[in-house]
Amino acid sequence: MVFLKSRQTQAQVDWKRLPRHVAIIMDGNGRWAKRRGLPRTAGHAAGAEVFRNIATYCKDIGIEYLTVYAFSTENWKRPEAEVSAIMGLLEQYLLESIEKMERDQITLHFLGDLSPLSPKLRELCDRTQNISTHYEGKLHVNVCLNYGGRDEILRAARAFAADCAAGKKKPEELDEAAFSGYLYSAGVPDPDLVIRPSGELRLSNFLLWQSAYAELYYTDVLWPDFSKEELDRALAAYQSRSRRFGGV
Ligand code: IPE
Ligand code: IPE
Ligand code: MG
Repeated sequence: MVFLKSRQTQAQVDWKRLPRHVAIIMDGNGRWAKRRGLPRTAGHAAGAEVFRNIATYCKDIGIEYLTVYAFSTENWKRPEAEVSAIMGLLEQYLLESIEKMERDQITLHFLGDLSPLSPKLRELCDRTQNISTHYEGKLHVNVCLNYGGRDEILRAARAFAADCAAGKKKPEELDEAAFSGYLYSAGVPDPDLVIRPSGELRLSNFLLWQSAYAELYYTDVLWPDFSKEELDRALAAYQSRSRRFGGV
């Protein structure tokens, strides 16, 4: 009873001390659908709707960067029908976004290897990224698509090695800032807060390099049930933490 009451209590967020960059592993769509006797794809559709609402909320409260995990390098292991349903939802989302992202003051970028995606989806990703270069958005959204943290680090290492082989760089020049510049997330500040709904306590290959000092927040709530109030709880938890970065 006490537990229920405390969960329903509105979280006290200090709107002047918000994290600059929030990252979310949008997990639990399949279980949400299963509990309702619906196909997993219905969970993905509901999850896409929640993403829209949370992105708008992040912009409204003044979060600068929102990075979401939409499809991992490991998610190709899923049945073909589920993968194509997820890709279809992404296409639908981008088609709608193209119309209104500038008005909504949201810019969209993609982190991941887009080359295995369908030509249509790739073209939509290119178009949204292009539009995003033409104005300054209030909220920068990064969608991790065919993204894996290890894959990202390997690619960065390969690209740096290639620059060395070509005589453009020297191995001793490589430091953390320079290496970050080879990642998909080049130019994006590290996430301050990483949220994982659905009760799983793992990173599942998400932002491995960038999350070195992120605050982690887990909740049992499934992504399609995630709400503004849930985000407020995560923000309040973040604000109660003492970030020491190895100091005292
Ligand atoms: C997250 O929800 C969406 C993707 C990984 C694309 P899941 O589909 O993993 O949902 P669960 O974890 O099976 O409930
Ligand atoms: C992580 O969720 C990937 C996304 C949310 C896109 P998964 O459902 O794929 O992760 P695991 O398999 O539970 O680790
Ligand atoms: Mg999952």
